[in-house]
Amino acid sequence: MRIPPLHRRALPIAAITAVLGGCAWDTPMSTAVSSTEFGRSILSLYGLLVWVSAAIIAIVFIGLAWVLLHFRERPGGPLPRQIRGHTLLELSWTIAPALVLLIIAIPTIQVIFRTQGAAPRGALEVTVRGWQWWWEFRYPSLGVVTANELYLPVGQPVVLRLEGPDVIHSFWIPRLGGKRDVVPGRINQLTFTIDQAGEYWGQCAEFCGTSHANMRMQVIAVPRQEFDRWAARQKAPAPEPAEAAADGKAIYARSACVGCHTIRGVSAGAIAPDLTHFGSRKTLAAGLLPNDLENLTTWIVDPPRVKPGAKMPAVGLNAAEARAVATYLLSLK
Ligand code: CUA
Repeated sequence: MRIPPLHRRALPIAAITAVLGGCAWDTPMSTAVSSTEFGRSILSLYGLLVWVSAAIIAIVFIGLAWVLLHFRERPGGPLPRQIRGHTLLELSWTIAPALVLLIIAIPTIQVIFRTQGAAPRGALEVTVRGWQWWWEFRYPSLGVVTANELYLPVGQPVVLRLEGPDVIHSFWIPRLGGKRDVVPGRINQLTFTIDQAGEYWGQCAEFCGTSHANMRMQVIAVPRQEFDRWAARQKAPAPEPAEAAADGKAIYARSACVGCHTIRGVSAGAIAPDLTHFGSRKTLAAGLLPNDLENLTTWIVDPPRVKPGAKMPAVGLNAAEARAVATYLLSLK
């Protein structure tokens, strides 16, 4: 196919625009900006690797360009001088890579030890359990259990103990540091201190089945007092519903919901998210949708239609019953 000259120039520009359009620095899931010392130590190592690699690339390509130009074949030129073996050259290209590896290895090992160390004293402990396809967060010292939204205090060290009840997942909040696998039968640990309040999005980073891509979560980092207020509210029993919400509670209590979900004082299921304070959550179905009456009703009627492969089946509630249950659940602030 013949491309007209104007288009020939426009094509690379369009390609570069498309590629660069995907680049951004300060995005919700940026790995180039970090709000923890854990993330920043990884970033500084990454920066060092980039500069060392850039220097090596520059040296190699400038050398290559010089060789290509200097020793290129000229018409009628003589056969170049033939060389066999060069002790100095061979020593240098053995020692130089060894030095490069050393320059990279020392800080790498330091960062590995720093990010794998024991949790500091006074760290807030949270058990993170990765389920197909949602996250459970248990605060043993506070007696609080929640899902998909992890509240953490700013400025206090946090130690996450990662466990997997079903398959391998990977816990990853890009702006808080590197990912770490959640492996059944094993407890992995992640320690960091958040130094900036904010909402940090995360995502399961290990393929774990149908809705792996829909296994999102959010860390909500708040100042100490606000965290204490949040924990006190979460610890309190679920509020008693009134009117429409009371009907919803009755429907919930006689449905299959109770086999899987816990609402303290109402049901005690252990294989699905704890709903005691469900109404306080911003999102639904592991960060998939805003948590409002419409979305929640649609979800309750037929979860796998909203989220492919969802383990929660349609439990046979009609739209009116589902709406009543949704009203009840949203009243659980
Ligand atoms: Cu869990 Cu992917």
